[in-house]
Amino acid sequence: MRAAYASAFDADNPLAALTVGERPEPVHPADDWVTVQVRSSSLNHHDLWSLRGVGLAGDRLPMILGCDAAGIDPDGNEVVVYPLIADPGDPRGISILSEHFPGTFAERVAVPRENLVPKPADLSFTDAACLPTAWLTAWRMLTTKGRLDSADAVLVQGAGGGVATAAVVLAVASGKRVYATSRDAAKRERIAALGATALEPGARLPERVDVVIETVGAATFDHSLKSAAPMARIVVSGATAGHEPKVNLRRVFAMQLEILGTSMGTPDELRDLMAFCAERKVRPVVDAVYPFSEVAQAFARLHSGEVFGKVVLDHTA
Ligand SMILES: NC(=O)c1ccc[n+]([C@@H]2O[C@H](COP(=O)([O-])OP(=O)(O)OC[C@H]3O[C@@H](n4cnc5c(N)ncnc54)[C@H](OP(=O)(O)O)[C@@H]3O)[C@@H](O)[C@H]2O)c1
Repeated sequence: MRAAYASAFDADNPLAALTVGERPEPVHPADDWVTVQVRSSSLNHHDLWSLRGVGLAGDRLPMILGCDAAGIDPDGNEVVVYPLIADPGDPRGISILSEHFPGTFAERVAVPRENLVPKPADLSFTDAACLPTAWLTAWRMLTTKGRLDSADAVLVQGAGGGVATAAVVLAVASGKRVYATSRDAAKRERIAALGATALEPGARLPERVDVVIETVGAATFDHSLKSAAPMARIVVSGATAGHEPKVNLRRVFAMQLEILGTSMGTPDELRDLMAFCAERKVRPVVDAVYPFSEVAQAFARLHSGEVFGKVVLDHTA
């Protein structure tokens, strides 16, 4: 079957490590696994990390990339694929599709049946394919970790990214005051159109916030600390611009800040997120949809750093 996979690693030019070609049909490691016909998938920064050799072991190559998919299960149901798989071989006890088990950038993907979540009828395949990784991560950051219910104001750093645009949309839809930074003036305009107050990185906020959504890391972390109100939650799920920021510990204890790490979310949180999107008529921010035949261009788009929202692949084209 047709697939996009990592055939090597290239730390400097991850796009050079991407191969598009034929791979064997999915296999089922256990009886409870099923094969899903993929209709749409979406890219994540994780896929670029994999091509760089971060988080993907060399002895797993060649590996089909992709964490996110929506498609059709063997019974003809429209489903969203929850991408975390129980994995006793991994020290975390789980792995995400494309780390150990082949990912979603293929005609078909195999997962345990319990990983299938019904797709709400009013969410398109394109929209649904955006939700399982970036949007689920943002949802858990805001709700379970950030305790959004008891927050008035939220700051989202690096707001052009997939997780970050999700956090902006979800926090605005929850009725919060949302501030968001981006290095790019055009992205700041688009953030403002989503209902947030858009700022340059490092700019002083008109108020301190109760929740900070951090996926950028070293480039923005000091600003996150300075922008946090007493007892605020700084929730971290990524470090695109460096994972070893300088941290002013005096501010952490004096302001009683909570710095919370998080990764992805649970199947129940994915169901809650989809229900929220359906009920509030919230839809993912989609930067671009590429036919699967242009998967290399889709990767180049994500790698350019110019994306605003999710880059989606249409597997029917
Ligand atoms: N732990 C998890 O479960 C989980 C899940 C999903 C993602 N992640 C991680 O979260 C991060 C973001 O993922 P994503 O898929 O949303 O990535 P993405 O779509 O590529 O977004 C990255 C964003 O980071 C900002 N950025 C990059 N370099 C920067 C710099 N030097 N200074 C300031 N901002 C910078 C940019 O925002 P502007 O251009 O707007 O400034 C960019 O849009 C990645 O590190 C990813 O691995 C983690």
